[in-house]
Formats: sequence, C-alpha cells, structure tokens
Amino acid sequence: MKKNLISTIAVDGPAASGKSTLGEHLAKTFNYTYLDTGVMYRAVTLAALNQSIDFDDEDRVSEIAESMELDVRRPSINDGRSNDIILDGQDVTWAIRSAEVERNVSKVSAYQRVRTAMTEQQRRIAKRGRIVMVGRDIGTVVLPEAEIKLYLEASVEERAHRRYLELINRGKAVTFEEILSDMVRRDQFDSTRAIAPLRPAEDAIIINSDHMNADQVYEYSCKIISAHCSN
Ligand code: DC
Repeated sequence: MKKNLISTIAVDGPAASGKSTLGEHLAKTFNYTYLDTGVMYRAVTLAALNQSIDFDDEDRVSEIAESMELDVRRPSINDGRSNDIILDGQDVTWAIRSAEVERNVSKVSAYQRVRTAMTEQQRRIAKRGRIVMVGRDIGTVVLPEAEIKLYLEASVEERAHRRYLELINRGKAVTFEEILSDMVRRDQFDSTRAIAPLRPAEDAIIINSDHMNADQVYEYSCKIISAHCSN
C-alpha cells in the first residue's frame, strides 16, 4: 500500500460508536499520530469545573478554552490510556472521564469561541501530517480536505450497551437505563447545535457497526484506505 499518499484520516461519529478504538488502531498500524479531539472539549469542561465557573457563563468558559495549556502526549503509563492528557501541568487523563465532565461537556462544546480555539489547535497539530483525528466535526469543519473520511454509526441502544459494559468492567455502578438516556440526550444536543453539528461530511464513508465488532470495522476501514491508495 502507498501509505505516504495519505496525510490525514478523519474519523467522526456519535458517542460510543467505536471511533476512538478504530482511530487508535489505524494510527498504530500506519504509525500516524492519533488525536481524539473529544479530550480537548473534556479538558475545557474540567478546567471550568476546577475553577467553579458557571457553565452558562459563555464568556468565562470561552476564556478558559482560549488560555488553558493543554498537551496531548504519547502515553507514559500502561493503564489503558491512549495518550497522556496534561492540563496546566497536571495529568488529567482519567479526570476528564468523570460523570460531572460527561454531564457538562456538550454545553461547553457548543460555544463558538470554545470551538474556534479547539479547531485552531487541531489544525495546527494536523499540519505536521500523518494524523488520524477523531471527533464529531473533523471531516466537515476541522479538516474538510482530509483524504480519508470515515463516519461511524450504530444504533443508540447498541452504543449504550457497549458503554454500559465498558463502565461495568471498570467497576462503575451504573444502570443501562441511565447510560441510554444520557446518550440520547447527548446525541440530540451534539447533532442539533448551531455550530459544527455532528453529521457526516458529504464525501464521508459511512460505516454502520451495529452488526460488526471492532476488528471487523478495522478490517473494513483498512480496505477503504487501501482502495484509496491504489486509485
Ligand atoms: O467523543 P467524546 O465523548 O469524548 O466527546 C466529548 C464531547 O465533546 C461530546 O459531547 C461532543 C464534543 N466534541 C465535539 O463537539 N467535537 C469534537 N470534534 C469532539 C468532541
């Protein structure tokens, strides 16, 4: 495969659609940088929580996004993390996964100035080339020129089921019903917001993973990438 023909692979989709698993696997295979942009919106949310900022205060939340120092590095600890997420010098890799962050991140990520600040950082990182970038708006807004655009989807029940198993396996006391209702709420918010809503780019390849496991999605994606390279 002529891998060097591709500079950017964009992977978008709703929560728990398998995009991070896929993105990480593709990045490892091709030795590309992996960036899950969701962690950036989560980091803004955590920083606002740490400073007890009211999430309705758009100006103050935006100031945080514009001033915080965020670094996404290769993992330094082998504890299941994809990257080290360093916020203002602190390792927040797991803190950004808390339920409180989860509850507020959709609101934060709908603010225009927050999105502008994150998009600028994401484009700067992508300029270095050879990147797999995962998110909601990578193919549509952040990197519309990406050579490969994959959009993962699965029914909300299937995604809630996967997230439920993941949390139970991590020892969390959650019910399927609460995960499902939270996911429905987040899908609705992310796909109807005014700025950069969740939707596939016109030239994205849509992969429905309702009846596919992670390996099958990966193999299918590799075929798409190979076909692109041999064209
Ligand atoms: O993928 P995730 O669950 O870690 O994303 C957290 C939130 O960030 C999610 O509610 C949507 C938002 N997000 C976004 O608006 N744009 C992106 N490119 C990535 C995530």
